[in-house]
Amino acid sequence: MTKKLFIKTYGCQMNVYDSERMAGALSAHGYAATDQIEDADLVVLNTCHIREKAAEKVYSELGRMRLLRDQRRAGGSDLTIAVAGCVAQAEGEAMLQRAPFIDVVVGPQAYHRLPEMLAQRGRVASGIVDTDFPVESKFDELPAVSTPSGPSAFLTVQEGCDKFCTFCVVPYTRGAETSRPVAAILAEARQLADQGACEITLLGQNVNAFHGQAADGGTWGLGRLIRSLAEIEGLARIRYTTSHPRDVDDELIAAHRDVPQLMPFLHLPVQSGSDTILAAMNRKHRAEDYLRIVDRLREARPDLALSSDFIVGFPGETDQDFEATLRLVEQVRFAQAFSFKYSPRPGTPASLMKKQVKESVKAERLAALQELLERQRRSFDENSVGVRMDVLIERDGRDPGSKVGRSPWLQIVHLDGPDLSVGDLVTVEITGSHPRSLAGRLVSPPEKRGRAA
Ligand code: SAH
Ligand code: SF4
Ligand code: F3S
Repeated sequence: MTKKLFIKTYGCQMNVYDSERMAGALSAHGYAATDQIEDADLVVLNTCHIREKAAEKVYSELGRMRLLRDQRRAGGSDLTIAVAGCVAQAEGEAMLQRAPFIDVVVGPQAYHRLPEMLAQRGRVASGIVDTDFPVESKFDELPAVSTPSGPSAFLTVQEGCDKFCTFCVVPYTRGAETSRPVAAILAEARQLADQGACEITLLGQNVNAFHGQAADGGTWGLGRLIRSLAEIEGLARIRYTTSHPRDVDDELIAAHRDVPQLMPFLHLPVQSGSDTILAAMNRKHRAEDYLRIVDRLREARPDLALSSDFIVGFPGETDQDFEATLRLVEQVRFAQAFSFKYSPRPGTPASLMKKQVKESVKAERLAALQELLERQRRSFDENSVGVRMDVLIERDGRDPGSKVGRSPWLQIVHLDGPDLSVGDLVTVEITGSHPRSLAGRLVSPPEKRGRAA
């Protein structure tokens, strides 16, 4: 008898990747994935702890799950509720106290044990928790790769973080920084390419801290890994995220210069433009260091576009500190960016700092920063009009014959292409720019690599 599994994923791309791996592990135990929660026998919430809002969302969702289960039980069936991800890791047992109806709480390093935990759950009275950092690696234990759902796939190469920025929960929820061996990564990439993926995004909480063991006994950095991945036939695009400015080394910059498959778009979080705040955040770089790295990257790859993360209202942030952030944004000119109000997180040093910033000040600063970033994003998009670029077709559009794809700079491009398939890489001239996307016109027939949509 097959049971049905529904996974709801919050947070970062690593959670998306992990959810696919969990689905793979559970399918070997008779669970088929469904996107209809009403059909599910098992619900997995793959959670995020990064800001308070993200973590609290989980509890309201759990409330809904409980109601659903009560209805099921009234009708003579049942629903198993599992919580995975960074809230599971951060709160562990405490989750069962707050929501005793949860069946399983499983941390990100223990996903390979999930099937066993579910089997055990049937034999014990209360919920089960596993938030260990086991010695065995989940990567070795989980099934190799699930089928990529489109032409673009994620591949985790590195996990965890040793940087301990004072605002951040990740070093606690994902543990110490570890890199996967090079051979395992190359094998997974080849398999993804064989299954039709033409774009791979390498993932890691600190992806450019990657230092994977190579077959020759040496250690490879991310730049070297990218060069090797570029030799895989069918892989037309390589991306990586998320990077730390401190780990941008010469080899990585050279990869941006030499490897055409490495896309000219980089998400490089800076968080603040004030050296005082950067020091209090324990970022271990100054604003000037960031600007220098950006210059070097742009020298290597002149069409490189940048994205970033910003936090406003970090404890002690003054108007002058905030203005320094605005100045840095004006200097760099970002193609897009994410910005957040500082959210105090349990167990992090910044949450205990004096001089917490008032909510109203955070809100004002966020609005000002977002207005500037939005202006830069629009101007980046407007400058794309008239430009010819490669677009990777990702899905059908709403109108008959229309298609939706991505530019090298991650912009969404709509075009008319009744003969195109998902996975085609085509040359497109951009004809217009809309608030969240570009419009384009096909100028070359597709390089036929796509699979049927
Ligand atoms: N691994 C990534 C960060 C993941 S978190 C990296 O090192 O860049 C994504 C973003 O969330 C961070 O870059 C930061 O801008 C934001 N963030 C993290 N902790 C936060 C907090 N306590 N309050 C507000 N934003 C936070
Ligand atoms: Fe968090 Fe800083 Fe590590 Fe990024 S580098 S995951 S922000 S501690
Ligand atoms: Fe969130 Fe954990 Fe990712 S806290 S951002 S899901 S690493």
